[in-house]
Amino acid sequence: MSDQDKVIIFDTTLRDGEQSPGASMNAAEKLRLATQLEKLGVDVLEAGFPAASDGDLDAVAQIAGKLKRTTVTGLARTTRSDIDRAWKAVQHAAKPRIHTFIATSDIHLEYKLKMNREQVVDRAVDAVRYAKSFTEDIEFSAEDGSRSDRDYLCRIFEAAIEAGATTVNLPDTVGYAVPEEFAETVRYILDHTPNIGKAVLSVHCHNDLGLATANTIAAIRAGARQAEVTINGIGERAGNTSLEEVVMAMHTRNNFIPVTTNIHTEHIHPTSRLVSMITGIIVQPNKAVVGANAFAHEAGIHQDGILKNPMTYEIMRPETIGLSANKLVLGKHSGRHALRERIKEMGYDLSVAELDLIFTKFKELADKKKHVVDEDLEVIVTEGILRTSDIFKLEYLHVTCGNTVMPMASVKLTVNGRSVRGAGYGNGPIDAAYNTIAKLTGTESELLRFTVGALTGGTDAQGEVTVRLRENGLVTLGKGADPDIITASAKAYLNGLNRLEYLKSHPVTEPTAVAV
Ligand code: KIV
Ligand code: ZN
Repeated sequence: MSDQDKVIIFDTTLRDGEQSPGASMNAAEKLRLATQLEKLGVDVLEAGFPAASDGDLDAVAQIAGKLKRTTVTGLARTTRSDIDRAWKAVQHAAKPRIHTFIATSDIHLEYKLKMNREQVVDRAVDAVRYAKSFTEDIEFSAEDGSRSDRDYLCRIFEAAIEAGATTVNLPDTVGYAVPEEFAETVRYILDHTPNIGKAVLSVHCHNDLGLATANTIAAIRAGARQAEVTINGIGERAGNTSLEEVVMAMHTRNNFIPVTTNIHTEHIHPTSRLVSMITGIIVQPNKAVVGANAFAHEAGIHQDGILKNPMTYEIMRPETIGLSANKLVLGKHSGRHALRERIKEMGYDLSVAELDLIFTKFKELADKKKHVVDEDLEVIVTEGILRTSDIFKLEYLHVTCGNTVMPMASVKLTVNGRSVRGAGYGNGPIDAAYNTIAKLTGTESELLRFTVGALTGGTDAQGEVTVRLRENGLVTLGKGADPDIITASAKAYLNGLNRLEYLKSHPVTEPTAVAV
């Protein structure tokens, strides 16, 4: 197998993934996730869209300064000011890339850009040349490429490569393509773009028709050598191509898709959990590869087969994606060493100070809950490590409720480092807690959705609550877990409020709202 057979994995969880409704992440969360993605082995990491806000630029710059092996890129429209900001963000990366894009379909040209084809080629060439004056590694994307005229695509790619693009990307921006057609377009570009040999052909698919993975695989079989993906398939609207699906399809069906990647598959599951915990976006149980049921065998005949030989019904081994076979259960007698080993096996690298914090929280939980399992530890790690920059923190919650009393909550919070306390009533215990928290934080968010589930089985399982909040047009998710369901609800609400505060202080410029 030659180098030609290696597929570059370009992860855009932190950019396109972050465009999922409510999935905003703060800089500390992004940095943590970027570190995990480097460990997973992604080749290129799109860390954000630096023109969107100073916060985004800053987060991309922090990631660029930290990663050692992974190429770090920032997205830019074809304007010089966007490219300046993208370069400012990635200039200190060990391997910087600038990714610039403009739409190429007639419908975008006529209604959105109000430019003709020649003008768009000129703009693309100017942008690539300008980006090239900063760095060698330049990607050019033809937005809405799958709905663009094929000959025009070849023309603009040829011009972009001539101007210095080292990767040209064909996005199925609106998730319209179907596999055979998309593969044909890839072949057409490879056959009709004279200088395509000087660049890598990339694809970037969206999942509006549920075909993102199929389209990406078809494109790779047709000769594309970079796949743009996100963890858990999160992204704009119905999402992007899932990294785990594409990588495991190539891994499992290597006879049919004979290519390799640099992904360490055993880090797939921890990375998927981390993305879900950070963004608050729940992975559907039947999701391919990383869903909770992906390796669960319910039918008796299947269970019997699995016991006789796992290959009867299992096409992938759970260990391959980092789902440990030996589920170690910890309890209140477990020591630091056992905890550290388990957390390491789960894919988290913690500093000594972080481990100290986690150990304290683990002991608190073990006092309330006999068996502490991986799902519990994940929550402790996420809540203990990732939420340290929170403005609002829960110190104390006491709720009285029952069928003969008016539900009342008494709450103590830290608000910007200052302790505040108060009490309030509600229709039920959660309503009472939320009313009191809203009063103490001075916030006026609207609760759009409230869901509650259990992290594991058993009556001592931790309750897991997800909320969706809206305030002044900003929407976000919040997540919390605790053996006590009212406390879990309060934690989820506070997590959502903290995310709203972050959004308020980091206003985003929508790319589509600004003239190119
Ligand atoms: O979907 C899309 O077209 C994009 C481009 C900016 C690559 O995200
Ligand atoms: Zn996209």
